Amino acid sequence: MFTTRELQDEIIRLKKENDVCILAHAYQSHDIWEVADYVGDSYGLSQQAAKATQKTVLMCGVRFMAETVKILSPEKKVLLSNPNAGCPMAEQMDVELISQVKEMNPGYTVVAYINTTSELKTICDVCVTSSSAVQIVKNIENKNILFIPDCNLGHWVAEQVPEKNIKLLQGGCPTHVRMSVKDVEAARKAHPDALLLVHPECLPEVTAKADYKGSTTGIMDYAKNSNAKEFIIGTENSIVQHLQFACPDKKFYPLSKDCVCHNMKLTTLGDVYDCVKGIGGEEIELSDEIREKAKRCIDTMLTLGQ
Ligand code: 13P
Ligand code: SF4
Repeated sequence: MFTTRELQDEIIRLKKENDVCILAHAYQSHDIWEVADYVGDSYGLSQQAAKATQKTVLMCGVRFMAETVKILSPEKKVLLSNPNAGCPMAEQMDVELISQVKEMNPGYTVVAYINTTSELKTICDVCVTSSSAVQIVKNIENKNILFIPDCNLGHWVAEQVPEKNIKLLQGGCPTHVRMSVKDVEAARKAHPDALLLVHPECLPEVTAKADYKGSTTGIMDYAKNSNAKEFIIGTENSIVQHLQFACPDKKFYPLSKDCVCHNMKLTTLGDVYDCVKGIGGEEIELSDEIREKAKRCIDTMLTLGQ
């Protein structure tokens, strides 16, 4: 039997021996962060996916993130840490639905949150992530934008880019929409000196009350660089723990105890161990046609997002 520390040491040894790059989304647990080569938000992970030099890339996150790695690095073996880790938002809209919506809205540029399937990306014009969406939408020449699937993120983008005509559909993250104005009122009452930092996947009435809105990495950077000492965190609750490690002299409180993404939490350190040993995870396979068509919209994101 291994202790956590021994298992981590073994993972670090095996990833070098077997030429594996470990990418972890910020919502992964701290024991996984400690063995990863890179930890970040969805945009940072896409950039790293294109840069990794190792033969195998292990994505500790959810399926669309591993697919993004495969799209950007087709020559690599790409593993998803736990085959059951999907993103419910990515499954909300499919090619059939969006093809119909496109027919009803000719002349619109289709902007897809990166939390979508590879199949859906093939019929979209550009991808965005929470940290790049505002800049990318500003940089699109067309005034008419169809933003899918997250209407909360889309609403937040529309507020900041009022010169665009942004059409939204009713999709969203089931984890972030759990946080309510009641949660904000209760947290503000319990921690009157704390700043409220929220992710734009939250409901508009929640983001409206925040002191800062931004991606997972944006929230972490803001808290680290701020002179304030207390923060209420309105995103997946693992960020509360990571920030507490990063800033032991500050205090972090979850906006809601229910903001837990069960898909992100599926991956265990044991899964990572099996993957670097070569006996775990799921190898991501995409047809050339899907990969090439989906790549156009990720490449456009990486260009417009710079
Ligand atoms: P970011 O990592 O871009 O902040 O997105 C959050 C999220 O919910 C990822 O699935
Ligand atoms: Fe999907 Fe939301 Fe979980 Fe992110 S937090 S993986 S958007 S369900």
